[in-house]
This record gives sequence, C-alpha cells and structure tokens, in this order.
Amino acid sequence: MPGSKKTDVTVVALCGSPHTQGNTATALRLLFNELSGISKKIYFAYKLAVHPCTGCGYCSREYGCIFDDAMNELYYSLQRAHVIIIASPLYFSHLPSPLKSIVDRCQVLWEYYNRGNKPLHQQYGFALLLGAGNYSNMFMPSVITLRHFFNSLNYRFDEKKYLLLPDINKKKDIKNDDITKKIAATAGYIKKLV
Ligand SMILES: Cc1cc2nc3c(=O)[nH]c(=O)nc-3n(C[C@H](O)[C@H](O)[C@H](O)COP(=O)(O)O)c2cc1C
Repeated sequence: MPGSKKTDVTVVALCGSPHTQGNTATALRLLFNELSGISKKIYFAYKLAVHPCTGCGYCSREYGCIFDDAMNELYYSLQRAHVIIIASPLYFSHLPSPLKSIVDRCQVLWEYYNRGNKPLHQQYGFALLLGAGNYSNMFMPSVITLRHFFNSLNYRFDEKKYLLLPDINKKKDIKNDDITKKIAATAGYIKKLV
C-alpha cells in the first residue's frame, strides 16, 4: 500500500486520549513498564489524524482504503501484533471520535477477512478504559463497541479481564496502590497472551 510504514511489534496500544501525558497515557505507560522484554508501541489517535470512514464500499472490493493516511501503518501493525490494547478515556460514555474513526476504518480488515483471508496468527484484544465518573454501566457502550470490533477482526478477548477504572479525574487518581496492583495483574495477564 502506498506510504505504508512497517511497524512490527508484539503489543500495539491505541490511545484515545488527546493528552499524551494524561491519565490514560499514564496508566498505559505504567502497564508498559511492567512488560519489559516485549516489543510494544503506543499510537495516539489524536496525533494520527485518521480520516473518518465514508462508507464508500472500496474496501469491500479491494484490500485498502481510498484515504492514504496513518491507517496504512496501522493496518500493517494491527495484523502483526499479538495483543491490541484499546486504551481510552470515556467521552459521553464512549470512545473519543478520533479513536472511533480508527475503529471504523478497520472495516478494511473486516472486509479482508470476510473475503476468506486468514489472520497471520491468533490475536488478542484488551481494553483499558477510564472515566471521571462512577455510575452504573458507564463502560458498557465502549465495551459493546469493542466486543463488535474484536469479534470482527477475529481477536480473542476476555471482558472480565479488562482494566476499567472509574473515578479517574487527576493523575494522582491513577497513582494509587489499588490501581498499581490492578496494572500489575493486567501485565501478568498480557504476558500470558504473547
Ligand atoms: C468531552 C468529554 C466527555 C467526557 N465524558 C465522560 C463520561 O461520559 N464519563 C466519565 O466518566 N468521564 C467523562 N469525561 C472525563 C474523562 O473521561 C476523564 O477526565 C479522564 O480521566 C480523562 O483522561 P485523559 O487524561 O487520559 O484524557 C469526559 C471528558 C471530556 C473532555
């Protein structure tokens, strides 16, 4: 594909926050610190400026997209990674729109597999979601979208293992003992997947 950068790492994280030093990025880096020896990369959705899917139908006929942008690198690395982590703050209980645009543009991969092409190897999806609030079912809209996303791309996933963090407003909320323990447990789980 034209302009495609080839990044081949074991764990790919897509970060949905606009803040590269914010709560989500901090939680993700703490998790990555626990994954030493495993190749990994964080993509910040807001920095990639991925064009939203226009539903033109091109990818139902050809592998690829009419938009030549950062998705070219993502298609490559998302197919090669063993674990894909979606890390995001909630925006109105959902994924912020630049991250949702990446999810939508992965229709290219869904169409590719739907034509009978096989994944290169078994892949696993994981979610790290956080929000400032604490209300019932707050993570459900994003969890359902990611269920559909991971299923469409043939990733295995276990929603019971997701790191779902309510009450996260300031960075100090991330750096407490309870969350440190949860991050360590998550790292143990991810190490078993790779
Ligand atoms: C536009 C917008 C919408 C938000 N909607 C929600 C929400 O629906 N539920 C919630 O718990 N927090 C919501 N928040 C709060 C963020 O999820 C929270 O502050 C989070 O810690 C920010 O993470 P970050 O530092 O990684 O960007 C919202 C924040 C913004 C800016």
